[in-house]
Amino acid sequence: MAKKLTELTWEEFQGFDVYEKGACLRLERPHVFHTLVAQQFDRRFLDELCELTTTIRTIAKDKEGMLFLKGLLAHKRAMLYFSQPSSRTFLSFSAACQILGIDTEEVRDTAVSSEFKGETQEDSVRTFSSYFDLIIMRSKVAGLAERMAWVLSNSDRPVPIINGGSGRDQHPTQSLLDIYTLQRSFEDRGGIDGKQIVFVGDLLRGRTVRSLATLLMQYRDVDQVFVAPRQLQLGEDIQKLLSKGGVNFSLTDDFDSAVLEADAVYMTRVQDEWDDETGDSRKIDTSRYHFTAAHLDMLKPGAIVMHPFPRRKEIAVEVDNDPRAMYWRQMRNGMWTRSALMAVTFGVDREIASQL
Ligand code: CP
Repeated sequence: MAKKLTELTWEEFQGFDVYEKGACLRLERPHVFHTLVAQQFDRRFLDELCELTTTIRTIAKDKEGMLFLKGLLAHKRAMLYFSQPSSRTFLSFSAACQILGIDTEEVRDTAVSSEFKGETQEDSVRTFSSYFDLIIMRSKVAGLAERMAWVLSNSDRPVPIINGGSGRDQHPTQSLLDIYTLQRSFEDRGGIDGKQIVFVGDLLRGRTVRSLATLLMQYRDVDQVFVAPRQLQLGEDIQKLLSKGGVNFSLTDDFDSAVLEADAVYMTRVQDEWDDETGDSRKIDTSRYHFTAAHLDMLKPGAIVMHPFPRRKEIAVEVDNDPRAMYWRQMRNGMWTRSALMAVTFGVDREIASQL
């Protein structure tokens, strides 16, 4: 049976598989406390979060609504601790904090924090918890957000952690905004259920793909197609999770055929920042997997093109102004979805819902 973080040793929590961890984190409901892994969210939560996101967007359309939102969490402070590069996740969280009135501080370069003097990341995060009510963090260290959530939950300052990307494994808030983008795009066509989602690019190391592929398991009859060169194909751990969950999925290197059938094409770049001495992924020819203007003619009229960004050459700029190019809206959805997540985290979601 699942237990709360306060009832577990670190060794016990660390030893759990990702679904067992998710079950522990769900015990904090009705309000999400820590956001660490995509697997902690169930379908009901996803549906409610999508609805709340749309409500916030609607309220924010005029000054009166913006002032209402801005007053909700004006007594809270958040630390943005991003020790790995970021534009969208950092800025959309920062903008989301502004929408809800949350004051923010940031550490983006550990060369200007006491980590430069040898302080551990763990001590840094505990220090932040002395001053702030929420810590949003990105780290190249897989599992650091989980470790810090456990440490803080068992301290006298149990402030929530939101994982803004950890190692190669998890990017849970990206998968929430991706779900919202899919849900909105297909809301007049039965939602996400029954759709075919095609993932393309570096599926081995793309943490956005890993998180979204597992969240899509919450939806009925979704086909998942993974298109990549052999060296960058989806990891066996996620394939096992999909198989175990009875998901209909396939692996291929035939990009054009996949585009023809897709309801959504989710492009990703080669994540060569993770290259080690065993390989140089920049040498892999991925040009066959680029979405060009010619692919727009192959794409179904109601299908969409997504990308978590940053992009390199995976999507030609000529595609940008097609109505099916959803990546700019996807990016903006991040701000609204993250506002909704923080509203749930601090328990003001009902107050927001009651405004409409
Ligand atoms: N999608 C995403 O995580 O973008 P950033 O790396 O710019 O935050």
